Amino acid sequence: MENNSNVNRGINHGNICLSGNEISRILEENIILRFENKKLQDETGILAEEIKKFKDNSQKYPFPVANVKDVLEDGRVIVTINFGSEIVVTNRSDKKVQITDKVVLRNDFGTITEILPKSHQISLMNMDEKPDITYADIGGLQEQKRAIKEVVELPLKNPEIFGKVGISPPKGVLLYGPPGTGKTLLAKAVANATNAKFIEVVASELAQKYLGEGSKLVREIFRYAKENAPAIIFIDEIDGIAHSRSGEVEGADREVQRTLTQLLAEMDGFKPLDRVKVIAATNRVDIVDNALLRPGRFDRLIEIPLCDYEGRKEIFEIYLNKMNIRDINIDELSRTENLSGAQIKGICTEAGLNAIRQNRDYVVRDDFANAIEKTESSKMTNKFGIPVVQELYV
Ligand SMILES: Nc1ncnc2c1ncn2[C@@H]1O[C@H](COP(=O)(O)OP(=O)(O)O)[C@@H](O)[C@H]1O
Ligand SMILES: [Mg+2]
Repeated sequence: MENNSNVNRGINHGNICLSGNEISRILEENIILRFENKKLQDETGILAEEIKKFKDNSQKYPFPVANVKDVLEDGRVIVTINFGSEIVVTNRSDKKVQITDKVVLRNDFGTITEILPKSHQISLMNMDEKPDITYADIGGLQEQKRAIKEVVELPLKNPEIFGKVGISPPKGVLLYGPPGTGKTLLAKAVANATNAKFIEVVASELAQKYLGEGSKLVREIFRYAKENAPAIIFIDEIDGIAHSRSGEVEGADREVQRTLTQLLAEMDGFKPLDRVKVIAATNRVDIVDNALLRPGRFDRLIEIPLCDYEGRKEIFEIYLNKMNIRDINIDELSRTENLSGAQIKGICTEAGLNAIRQNRDYVVRDDFANAIEKTESSKMTNKFGIPVVQELYV
């Protein structure tokens, strides 16, 4: 009875006084808590197992690769995955992503975990920057400037005029002529004048550097251009993938062939008014595959020849304007025949160096005379009679 009355009176624990009912409630709660604790431990175990399974799986399954299409203001990234669908993901890699980067996604497609090195990406140069070359930086080539404005600039700026008149502008233009005459400059000047996205690729690199991927890259480039129209795709050294050959093709050549086939398919695939223009350049129009020149492809050819006297004079003026010169007769300099724009620039640089070698900060007639002599003696032509540019200074 003693015990019982003790329970009824409660146990005095220090200054906490508990009644018998309270004790049984606490005991009950204690049991519940232990039970819940056990349940939680079990659940933790299950979760740990799930995490382990997830980790195993993520190592088992390949990680998806995606292309960055755009970066949102809040830092999230729009990427295109297989079949062209677009998703928004968070960048959890330690680097900033840029448009056209190739990235690795986590298995659940939710986040970017890694940015692939540049060698796995399309070498699209000057993609975001506008080239800073203008028509005024190009000497001579008046007729060529006019032609390219008409077939590239006008349709990009004013496509409706072609619709009204009822004609289709050319999709592609091929610039051909000796090296160093300003083909690349001209393509850049058009891009500058049109506000178009300028996508520059070197064709030979497409087939060589990205062995086995050339045709895929061509597809990517056109997709990117269409999505970012107005755009100009500039394919330099197109003979690198478009040389006509006879007989069976095999090995690496087959890849080159595939790249060309893809290019032709892409050219056929877009409409003249899609606001994508393709400018190609070559020093070797003599070997370019005729398939490239069919209607609807590169149906406009613009020859970029070596300049005449007037052209040379204009080019000399462009470079002499930036130089500190004394007693120079531009007419006399411009009388030197068979010079490309690149060679004229080289002569000016060499003349400047002659002055520096003699501790002068201004350039005189003799400096140019020496430079021209050096250029003349280094002039070479290949077996097609095309001048080979000798870089005087690299
Ligand atoms: N018509 C020109 N006017 C001014 N500079 C020129 C001209 N042509 C060539 N150059 C100079 O030579 C360099 C090479 O020219 P580029 O346009 O790359 O030649 P291409 O593409 O025809 O081989 C240019 O960066 C420029 O400095
Ligand atoms: Mg060039």
